[in-house]
Amino acid sequence: MQDAKEEIKSRLAVEDVVGQYVELKRAGRNLKGHSPWGVDKTPSFMVSPEKGIWHDFSANKGGDIFTFVMEVEGISFKEAMEKLASQAGVDLSKYRGGDPAVAKRKMRLKEALELATRYYQACLVRNREVCEYVFYKRNMNRGTVKEFRIGYAPASGKALLGVLKKRGFTERELDDAGLLNRFKTDLFRDRMMVPFIDTTGNVIGFTARVIKGGEPKYLNTPETLLFNKSRFIFGLAEAKESIRRNNFVVIVEGNMDVISSHQAGVKEAVATSGTAMTEQHLKALSNLTSDIRLAYDGDAAGVKATERAIMMAGDLGVNLTVISNYHGAKDPDELIQKDPALWQAAVSERIPAVDWLLSKYEENLDLRLAPDKRQYSDVALKLLGYVKDEIEKASYEEKVAKKLGVDVSILREKGARLDAKLAEKHTKRYLKKPKTEADEAGSMSKLENSLLALKVFGGITKTKIPLDIPEDEAKLSELEMIFNKEHEGIENPNYEKEAAELMRRYSDESRRQRIAELNEKLSSLDEESDEYDAVLREITDLQKS
Ligand code: UTP
Ligand code: MN
Repeated sequence: MQDAKEEIKSRLAVEDVVGQYVELKRAGRNLKGHSPWGVDKTPSFMVSPEKGIWHDFSANKGGDIFTFVMEVEGISFKEAMEKLASQAGVDLSKYRGGDPAVAKRKMRLKEALELATRYYQACLVRNREVCEYVFYKRNMNRGTVKEFRIGYAPASGKALLGVLKKRGFTERELDDAGLLNRFKTDLFRDRMMVPFIDTTGNVIGFTARVIKGGEPKYLNTPETLLFNKSRFIFGLAEAKESIRRNNFVVIVEGNMDVISSHQAGVKEAVATSGTAMTEQHLKALSNLTSDIRLAYDGDAAGVKATERAIMMAGDLGVNLTVISNYHGAKDPDELIQKDPALWQAAVSERIPAVDWLLSKYEENLDLRLAPDKRQYSDVALKLLGYVKDEIEKASYEEKVAKKLGVDVSILREKGARLDAKLAEKHTKRYLKKPKTEADEAGSMSKLENSLLALKVFGGITKTKIPLDIPEDEAKLSELEMIFNKEHEGIENPNYEKEAAELMRRYSDESRRQRIAELNEKLSSLDEESDEYDAVLREITDLQKS
């Protein structure tokens, strides 16, 4: 994409791009105009045609044509790129495909995973005991096993490694594909293998179930270049067609529930890993259908997951319902084993997610008692806060008020009071700005302390921390205290990762401060001077990095 960017820049003059939004007048080597962000009395917006940059002194922003269009139109870099490419007559598709080196690596990983899948499939048919588990115990038929590409990973620790090495894959590639453990031997051993297949049909990882028992029950591919847990939707490749055709989707907890559901003829079933549905999952599904049916367990995790779905669903305009009649079975798979027809019926017997949650909230309360009424109204009102539609909300308020035996106006009063309290909390937390200089210095020195603490007590080797270790004993014990406090109660802390993250924030913050300083300096310099140009250049470079 860097090439495309350069090509566009070489074809478009900064004054022409900016000139579409700002009236510019020549002023020496530069052009001047009023800030498009509308805060200056005298022209404070400057463009340098020679350097291809702009700077706005009143709004304290600057950059090249891309940042200008992003800022002024409020669009993303990608969108700005597309807009300017069309103005410049540059065909972006010629530059697409991202970094070719990354694309090539991804291709290699896909090839390795495809071969692994075939190897596991071949191992399944050769192993009688595993076949028994798959075909009899889990009750999968041949079509299902074939469609979902079910396999078996042998127990020996190097079986797959050997096969793939012979096929020319390096240990590094296999590791990157998520196939190796930390001893660089096979990660998956003596497990039933279920591939993660993306919507283009590529295998991007696996979930692997123990056959004779053991821990963990399921072992999953870690995050890799190909597999991203918060994006991947299990079964979507196989379900997409049916979801589109029948215009609904069923989200279940377990991957095995998806497989059983498909076999039972309900091919609209998909799963996110466990109950961890993310906004990305929900968005992707809402693009296919607005009828989203949740088939989670009725336990605490299922309630939490349903609440989260309602919070996320707000702006997506989806209709969330809950499937809950399992006839005593613990999950869809168990119900299907009992009778596939029961599952088929359950899928259409859904109830609105809000109604389902309201009755869940009631379960452990006695609504004849005043304190229980208070508790119920607390959680119910919080939930109703996420119901966007006025009519729907009003009807729930009436329902809840009736349950409580109070007038709906009293419930609304309480709702308004809780809303106000929430808003106040929010304001206190987020809007107490603007930051003073002292605050800024404070947050910098806090970052420095955390970084130094990690450098001294966390044994950081990979991340470079450009701060000198103090010799002062008192300062060192202070750092030790900080280190202990910051890692209190954290299991398996990852100091390297933390250091890298803090360093990123530290350099961002330093850069921001440096830019502010330079801007200050700029305003005192003569525009025609060389120093002015040098400072402006430095600001622009800092803003770009
Ligand atoms: P469950 O324990 O309910 O599994 O976990 P299940 O799907 O009913 O499994 P079977 O029927 O005993 O084979 C639900 C989901 O949580 C994740 C998996 O995605 C599983 O499908 N999970 C569970 C793991 O990732 N690892 C585990 O060890 C357990
Ligand atoms: Mn199950």
